[in-house]
Amino acid sequence: MKRIRVLNQIAPSGLALLGEPQYRIFEESGEQEDAEAILVRSADMQQLEIPPSLLAVGRAGVGVNNIPLAKMNEAGVAVFNAPGANANAVKELVMAAMLMAARNLYPAAEFVRQLDLNSDQPSKLVESGKKRFSGFELAGKKLGVIGLGAIGVKVANAAFALGMDVYGYDPVISVHHAWHLNSAVHQCDRLESLLQKCDVVTVHVPLLDSTRGMLNEERLNLLPTGAILLNFSRGEIVVEEPLKALLEQAKLHAYVTDFPSAGLAHLPQVLSFPHLGASTLEAEEQSAIQVIRNLKAFLEHGI
Ligand code: MLT
Repeated sequence: MKRIRVLNQIAPSGLALLGEPQYRIFEESGEQEDAEAILVRSADMQQLEIPPSLLAVGRAGVGVNNIPLAKMNEAGVAVFNAPGANANAVKELVMAAMLMAARNLYPAAEFVRQLDLNSDQPSKLVESGKKRFSGFELAGKKLGVIGLGAIGVKVANAAFALGMDVYGYDPVISVHHAWHLNSAVHQCDRLESLLQKCDVVTVHVPLLDSTRGMLNEERLNLLPTGAILLNFSRGEIVVEEPLKALLEQAKLHAYVTDFPSAGLAHLPQVLSFPHLGASTLEAEEQSAIQVIRNLKAFLEHGI
């Protein structure tokens, strides 16, 4: 019997693949030294002691920055993730967020929530919001997609459907390869040229040493006045202080992120979500099933 420790909630349809008598699933930390495998979603494993029995870790998601990869490598522990499994969920949230920001939907809805609609002239009150929350259209605007993996390519395709002109930059794959992934995206060989020209910029790169702080002061300052920046990748990709300054000076229209931070969340131009990108029934199921299938193949056949 293989013992699987589960650190986060994992979709039951995935866990159902790990039935007894071959597998036993447990959550209690007291038993961690006995586990042959760990299943994790976003829990931070950096400080977790690696039990000598451990053979594999399965991440029911894409990013593996919550797993100490060097330590796992040294201990001979295999690490699996579920690339692409939640790409559609993230894409849909990014598009919703982009539209919300361009049309000022969140403050507009908040405004209506605070209105006294029982007053003598409710329509006059509603009318006063029309001008205040007037936004802009995405059709005809330039979208910059940083990172052309499974999520970035889906976001680009959805943006075409809205009539946007899409520019792409990837720090890892070559312009040539990126062109083959989506030939309708204008490929930029420098991040700077994408930032300079795009009205809306969305970040879809993994958190690596080379991408941490990638959007630093110098690069953020290249964004056109009134631009929208979306970060559904990892908070650490964007350097917070210069971003805060640009938002406070109203140089950017909005910053929309799935990674709330104490320094930014309260600003009126910031819309933060509680890491919701992959939180759909479908993505949770697909991620769990994909990673558990790979984990099982490894535990049962060593592949
Ligand atoms: C990911 O990297 O795929 C997401 O962080 C998934 C999640 O929210 O679990």
